[in-house]
Amino acid sequence: MKVLFATSELAPWVKTGGLGDVAGALPAALRALGMDVRVLVPAYPALLEAFPDAEEIAQPHWLGGLLPTPKLKQALAPDGTPLLLLDYPHYFDRPGNPYLGPEGRSWLDNHLRFGLLSRVAAWLGSEASTLDWQPDIVHCHDWQTGLAAAYLHYLPGRRAKSLFTLHNLAFQGLFDHASLFELGLPDAAWQIDGVEFYGYLSFLKAGLQHADAITTVSPSYAREIQTDAEGMGMAGLLRHRAENLSGILNGIDTHTWNPATDHHLHQTYGARHMDGKAANKASLQEELGLERRADLPLFAVVSRLTEQKGLDLLLAVAPQLLKLPAQLVVLGSGEHSMEHSWTALAQKHKSRCAVTIGFDEALAHRIEAGADIFAMPSRFEPCGLNQMYSLRYGTPPVVRATGGLADTVVDAADEKHGNGFVFGPATTDALLLALQRAATAWRDPKRWRLLQKHGMARDSSWAHAARQYIELYGKL
Ligand code: ADP
Ligand code: GLC
Repeated sequence: MKVLFATSELAPWVKTGGLGDVAGALPAALRALGMDVRVLVPAYPALLEAFPDAEEIAQPHWLGGLLPTPKLKQALAPDGTPLLLLDYPHYFDRPGNPYLGPEGRSWLDNHLRFGLLSRVAAWLGSEASTLDWQPDIVHCHDWQTGLAAAYLHYLPGRRAKSLFTLHNLAFQGLFDHASLFELGLPDAAWQIDGVEFYGYLSFLKAGLQHADAITTVSPSYAREIQTDAEGMGMAGLLRHRAENLSGILNGIDTHTWNPATDHHLHQTYGARHMDGKAANKASLQEELGLERRADLPLFAVVSRLTEQKGLDLLLAVAPQLLKLPAQLVVLGSGEHSMEHSWTALAQKHKSRCAVTIGFDEALAHRIEAGADIFAMPSRFEPCGLNQMYSLRYGTPPVVRATGGLADTVVDAADEKHGNGFVFGPATTDALLLALQRAATAWRDPKRWRLLQKHGMARDSSWAHAARQYIELYGKL
């Protein structure tokens, strides 16, 4: 089967969150099982730099509306996955993050940038394509490529089936009515069972409405989003599509995230030789200017700083957490007000709390290895990858029982399987109690080793998810 992945992020080159990780690892897992998967991604500067010899193979044209004629270049990722780089420098050769300009505001032409990405994905899956490789399935991810499903729906002739994977319902890709024409969509698309969403054009809704099948990244999230409380305005549509909606739990890249081989670490370690973990803790404390204390539990966060992640709850209980006593390291970037509050907290508690604002892949690895306990009190979490990295690094996570967190973390109360700490309501009391439970368990080495062992033994590889995707491709 031939599958085209269409994505706006691709680790390790371009990543703002888990979507980049998934697009960077799942194709190789599918290829290992015999699928012919190729990845379409915008030719951002980082990709052009990584693949200077990428060869031009097509010029998709007559795309409609105000969409330009880009070039498609072909390159081969080191893991053997063929990449199709969508090269249109005026759209994609820009500094920084794929979505935001230098001042942290969305690029004003994002509808055209990701409309072009979606339209070219549909072109590749249609009769108009000039490539000798025709996908059977166009697999889109999140709002940035949601429109591909709508384009495929409206295109004439033979075309690929579409699968839309929802990574986060909070990002809906909303643009004004005028963009319908600019994107070359027919007037007929402007209706309640089309791409219209409360007076806006929604790329996300286009994907949910028109894809032949929908998946999301955990079974629990697949259920939650069908409730009005958590459906963010799309619950009705998701219930309507329930028969074609399923949850497939993400895996993680077990090569990149492996404490036994991780070159970012001060010292590597594994489930049977854990000494290295203590060395990583000491070196992390030193690197971040914390007091070098082996006798205090070290809590950690690596996250986007947004409402979703529930870090305002953690901020509120942090003074009590530090008094346990405990230490806390935070690596994150996002909302400016949160960045300021976290920085202020660290300034007040210099020996106990270190906050790094920014996006730093290497430091994220050292934190996973050096910390004792990982905190992820998300309000909602479609899947979450960091709790799985934590499990693998022997750093039991404290999580709220939501989405993929609920599907991967088993509370310590279960002596046979427990690998972390789970709490229910999104309140400071419930969070603090769970953090205290973790700190108490950490002081009991035998109990702690067991929790770590369970976490480190969990199979988080992509193979399981890949088999489920293949089954779904087959049905389509
Ligand atoms: P989300 O996609 O909602 O941000 P995930 O847990 O699925 O959450 O994935 C987040 C990914 O981004 C992980 O690989 C995590 O390590 C990484 N990440 C998030 N913030 C940072 C940061 N400030 N520095 C480095 N890596 C980060
Ligand atoms: C989204 C979600 C996160 C998920 C990731 C990859 O960014 O917020 O929970 O792990 O996508 O699927």
